[in-house]
Order: sequence, then structure tokens, then C-alpha cells
Amino acid sequence: MDHPTLSDSEFTLFQKMMYDVTGIHLTEVKKTLVSGRLARRIKQLGVGSYGDYFKLLKKPGSTEMQIAVDLLTTNETFFFREQKHFDFLRDRVLPQWDGGMRRLWSAASSSGEEAYTLAMVMAEHARTDAWEIVGTDISSRVVEKAQRGQYPLERAANIPRPLLTRYCLKGVGSQEGTFLVADTLRKRTRFCHANLKGDLSSLGSFDVIFLRNVMIYFDMPTKQQIVARVIQQLKPGGYMMVGHSESLNGVSGALKPVAPSIYQKSLP
Ligand SMILES: C[S@@+](CC[C@H](N)C(=O)[O-])C[C@H]1O[C@@H](n2cnc3c(N)ncnc32)[C@H](O)[C@@H]1O
Repeated sequence: MDHPTLSDSEFTLFQKMMYDVTGIHLTEVKKTLVSGRLARRIKQLGVGSYGDYFKLLKKPGSTEMQIAVDLLTTNETFFFREQKHFDFLRDRVLPQWDGGMRRLWSAASSSGEEAYTLAMVMAEHARTDAWEIVGTDISSRVVEKAQRGQYPLERAANIPRPLLTRYCLKGVGSQEGTFLVADTLRKRTRFCHANLKGDLSSLGSFDVIFLRNVMIYFDMPTKQQIVARVIQQLKPGGYMMVGHSESLNGVSGALKPVAPSIYQKSLP
């Protein structure tokens, strides 16, 4: 049986829910995406319509809301994505750092590739051992993937060979076709669920924040609200990286641009 059709009014329900919960603004052109991504789940549950599925999300105590959010977020990511940010970290940030604990945050980490890339750069180039990486995302499904740290081999395409040799363990037997991020990196990289729209203070403060390829899904008021929250967790003088196609122009007065898509928080 074909899946039911998503009516305009049903689409509006999901659109509003995603905006309220995640800040993601699903424009009208995303209607096909929404119906396509929810179709399998609806079929699996044997629900008759998108409207009925929506009612399930709203049931008190239901875990279905998280499942729908998992399905409706776009989690595309890869190792060493937008390499210039990692070069900046290595060449301009790390040489400034003396002793003391350094903390880096991958603030919409998806399945962990960005956080583990940071860990590789830190392991290779930091002059101290006192550092940790935190990865957070609103999708529980990708947070679990990140925690596993195991990826299909083809995901390693962008990882430079020496790093691949040092930090990626090729799976054998039942794990063939995959690699596991080495324990040395995994023990310094932790992942948890966090909504950028929520209270972020429990994460502590950071020297560097990567907030990349997530603001494209937000409208201007949400972007301003989220950036304001996120930079509360950035130490004065700390750096924030955004996606190459994103910009913080007019979004925050507390950040000054220091390179394309790289900002520094003003000192008090
Ligand atoms: C396209 S991925 C970007 C991953 C990585 N930062 C990169 O640049 O490769 C966007 C991620 O943002 C997450 N996301 C969207 N809205 C969020 C929110 N309100 N709070 C936390 N994460 C969110 C999505 O679940 C998704 O995994």
C-alpha cells in the first residue's frame, strides 16, 4: 500500500512543531521531504494519516516526538569538512595556547565526524594533553552514532593517510567494511543530546565553538537567539567557526570577524 498523502494543513502542523521544538524553519518546498521522511515510520506503525501520526507525537509520555525530530533533521556531515577551519585552529589558535585545560565544542555535531576531526587535529598539534571535545546534537539517533565512533570505510575518504593510520582502526570479521575511531580520541570526546534552543549552561565554557551548517535552517530571529545562547558558553577571546555559506553579519555584536566564517569573542 502507498503511504497516505500529506495535506497542506498536516504539513503546517509538522512545520510548526519543528519550528517550536528545534528552531528549524521548514519552508513550503520541504513538503515532499517531510512526507518522504515520515512515510516509512507511518507505515511501520500502521497509522492511517499524517494527522493521526501527529497526534501520536503529542501523547503525554510518548517518545515519538524525538523519533520525528530525528527523521526531520538533516544530518549531512563528513570528516575534515571545510578544512580551512581546522587549518586556522592548527596555525593561528593552537600556537597561542599555553597550559590549562582547553575545551572545544562541536555544537551541532551530527554523527560525530566534526568532533573527531577536531580530536585528530588536537592530538596531532596541541602542545598540551589537557583538552577535551564535546559534541552535541538535537537528534538522539546521530548522538548514539557519534558515541559509537564507528563508520563505514568510505567515510574515511577525507582523512589524511597518516591520521588514518594513527587514529582509525579497520574492522575485521563482522566489522569488515567499517573503521573505529581510536580509543585515545574517543576517551577525550564525549557526546550528548542538547537543543541549541534550550539552556546550554550545563555544558560549561569553551575556547572554540564550531557552529557549522546548522544556522542555514533557522530564520533570523532564531539565529540571533541561538547565537546569543551559544556565545554565552564561549570564553572571552575564544573563537567561533560557522559554515562557509553562513554568516554572523548583523547577528551578534560580541563577535568580530577574524577570517572568512571565523569569529572571535571580544575581551571584556
Ligand atoms: C547538516 S548537520 C551539520 C553537522 C556538522 N556541524 C557539519 O558542519 O558537518 C546539522 C545538524 O544540526 C542539528 N540540529 C538542528 N537543529 C538543532 C538544534 N535546535 N539543536 C541542536 N542541534 C540541531 C541536526 O540534528 C543536524 O545533525
